[in-house]
Amino acid sequence: REACSLIPEAWRFDCYPERGVVVTRELCEARNCCFIPASSPSSSASHPSGRNGIPWCFYPEDFPSYSLVSINDTSLGQKGTLVREVKTYYPADILTLEITDPANSRFEVPISVPTATKKAEKEIYWSSASEHTVAPLLFADQFLQLSSSLQSQFIYGLGEHRSSFLHDVHWNTLTMWARDVPPMEQTNLYGAHPFYLAMDEGGDAHGFFLLNSNAMDVVLQPAPALTWRTIGGILDFYVFLGPDPASVIGQYVEVIGYHLCRWGYNTSDSTWEMVKSLRNYKIPQDVQWNDIDYMDQFMDFTFDSKKFGTLPDMVKDLHVHDQRYVMILDPGISSSQPEGSYWPYDEGLKRDVFIKDAEGKTLIGKVWPGLTAYPDFSNEVTHEWWYENLLRFHEKVPFDGLWIDMNEPSNFVDGSTNGCPSNSLENPPYTPGILGGFLRAKTLCATAQQKQSIHYNMHSLYGLMEAKASASAMKRIVAKRPFVISRSTFPSQGMYSGHWLGDNRSQWKDMYTSIAGMLTFNLLGIPLVGADICGFSEEPQEELCVRWTQLGAFYPFTRNHNAIDMRPQDPTAFSPLARTAMKQALLLRYSLFPVLYTLFHHAHVHGHTVARPLMFEFPKDVKTYGIDKQFLWGKSLLVTPVLDPEVDYVDGYFPEGLWYDYYTGNSLHSQGEDLRLHAPLDKINLHLREGSITPTQAPNLTLWVSSGQPLHLVTALSEGGAASGDLFWDDGETIDTYENNLYSYILFSVAQNVMTSQVLHSNVEATYITVETASFYGVKQKPSRVMVNSQDATFTYRDNQVLTVADLGLNLSQNFTISWM
Ligand code: GLC
Repeated sequence: REACSLIPEAWRFDCYPERGVVVTRELCEARNCCFIPASSPSSSASHPSGRNGIPWCFYPEDFPSYSLVSINDTSLGQKGTLVREVKTYYPADILTLEITDPANSRFEVPISVPTATKKAEKEIYWSSASEHTVAPLLFADQFLQLSSSLQSQFIYGLGEHRSSFLHDVHWNTLTMWARDVPPMEQTNLYGAHPFYLAMDEGGDAHGFFLLNSNAMDVVLQPAPALTWRTIGGILDFYVFLGPDPASVIGQYVEVIGYHLCRWGYNTSDSTWEMVKSLRNYKIPQDVQWNDIDYMDQFMDFTFDSKKFGTLPDMVKDLHVHDQRYVMILDPGISSSQPEGSYWPYDEGLKRDVFIKDAEGKTLIGKVWPGLTAYPDFSNEVTHEWWYENLLRFHEKVPFDGLWIDMNEPSNFVDGSTNGCPSNSLENPPYTPGILGGFLRAKTLCATAQQKQSIHYNMHSLYGLMEAKASASAMKRIVAKRPFVISRSTFPSQGMYSGHWLGDNRSQWKDMYTSIAGMLTFNLLGIPLVGADICGFSEEPQEELCVRWTQLGAFYPFTRNHNAIDMRPQDPTAFSPLARTAMKQALLLRYSLFPVLYTLFHHAHVHGHTVARPLMFEFPKDVKTYGIDKQFLWGKSLLVTPVLDPEVDYVDGYFPEGLWYDYYTGNSLHSQGEDLRLHAPLDKINLHLREGSITPTQAPNLTLWVSSGQPLHLVTALSEGGAASGDLFWDDGETIDTYENNLYSYILFSVAQNVMTSQVLHSNVEATYITVETASFYGVKQKPSRVMVNSQDATFTYRDNQVLTVADLGLNLSQNFTISWM
């Protein structure tokens, strides 16, 4: 057909996405689609395995789609009805639509999202319904597909995948379905986040969220265009208009929920001796963690009385030293213990908390303890049972936080020990590009039954629901802000837990990709995120581990974690030189705690990012759009880590403006340039953006001690001599201090040689803190006088234009001024 060849390759939308099929002209034309083998040889690689090439079988322009038969104003907006006259080639087409099927109820993701209560007052955009779409809309029972063109090729988000921060739009299919697998490119990973952020070259941005938890493919193609292809649920989508990238994320987070986060601790991964040895070397450590080794035969809520007999004492000792303890929990509950010997299973059966198979019997899979049943966290009864288990264990081992793992949920056998039935849920007409090829691969049967729906719909929500149960149990048990880190995640999880990026390797590449992972999760509303520092599997080399500790000190969540049988990789395991460099990096993190904590406050209240891509702050500078080797903390602190072996320099991009070296105050003017920076093994480059005031603190070995230390304010003056910054302060653990006014909030600003501290909100915590020193970078002339609250003060001035005023002894809870002339 001639019309077919007129469709440019970049605009060909795949009409035959099925994997494992060699698409022939006959098969294609049976779907009434166009068949043209694509020109570039690489595209044929898309058949039959991957789907990453120009499709040979694609929709003609006149392929039947839905048409809008009516549109009516409602009290909140408009409601339209779509009708399709011709059936598609997937079974069970729904021919009349109002986004969902008006005649039959369909699965909808059970998370609460804000509902509109009134019509938009001011329309900052208008929508129009047009007859022409880039590709047909399909809405069959198990195949829903929506395509749209994109304004630019700058697309971010769409977790969880291992990739560059900026996604490739050249025939790139990203599949979502929670899966336990060491991160690799081109496959579905632990979590599912159907949200993208798109940037325009002019600096405008928008976001798009498809609230759908079913297995899906997201196809990016160079038109540029995007296709959502899901096998269930409804097409419930949200568009966020920004206009800048940070506002898009703020709007998205408003829908998926505000964060409740706290500082991610520096940790190490082994025993009491380890803790003591870190203390010995005066290396900061806040939390000691334990992996499954602590358990009796890997069973949740137990500990091995022989090998971990002193666990309760160790935890007490940690508490005496103002340190914390976090241990792992996997969802699988051992189902093969003698009756009466294992309360979690016996009681779980009694209360009917476990997921059932298609026949209604407890579904049994296999995880670390052998045969296991899976708690159904979509059932409120399960939350209560989980809480009681935690409470009983807490009476023996007073842990402070939870590390919830294997919650994709992971299963060592496919489906269950009895296999799965054979039907259209287990073998849908179309299966997205899931690792293993089947929905049940290394997880539960799609037909498994949960309280709220079948596992087919609930699968990728498992981690979210377990995190919710865990956070609420922790709140009840410790009556403090809960600390939960989860491997599997779904939109809105930032309210309940942080995330670590899973089973990475001790390789330079893994260290590099962790930056994209960290930035993406900040976009997805889970700012408390980090990767296993020094790498999980494979043997760590000393140099890599030093560089990784430096980078890891700037993960919002900082934890060194190692796999079983690998050489130790904690700081004490290396040479004195390496050990000292790691210690310095960790102390640096502790000294920046006031900044980090304030950023988490803004994440909680405004949905801001903590670790931030450069393009958020410089959206008009296209050169920042692809950067994933550098990042910011907040607006102003630029981190440029070394990501390569055997170098003592690092190249970094500096957006236009004035930047200061964090350590020395030396300034550099950039026109928007790549610069080479000196980076010996014991240094991570940090720069301050002009116009910022950064509160720092004398570091110490635990957060408890360091957070009581005097403050040091670092001001980076703009060309015009101005700067501003802020500080949020509370007791660090009480729940909802902001909501209940139990916090201090201080604004710092500098203009015309006067620094002003304004206490906008105050509580007792701030009265314990003093402001001891203030440094001003970029003071062009040596002052003749410096005054603190109108009293003369002594000061030092260095030739690199740094003014320092020490021994201030000011109380943080009171307004003050520092001026110079
Ligand atoms: C999983 C986790 C890993 C943990 C291991 C043993 O692989 O991702 O962090 O160490 O299980 O529990």
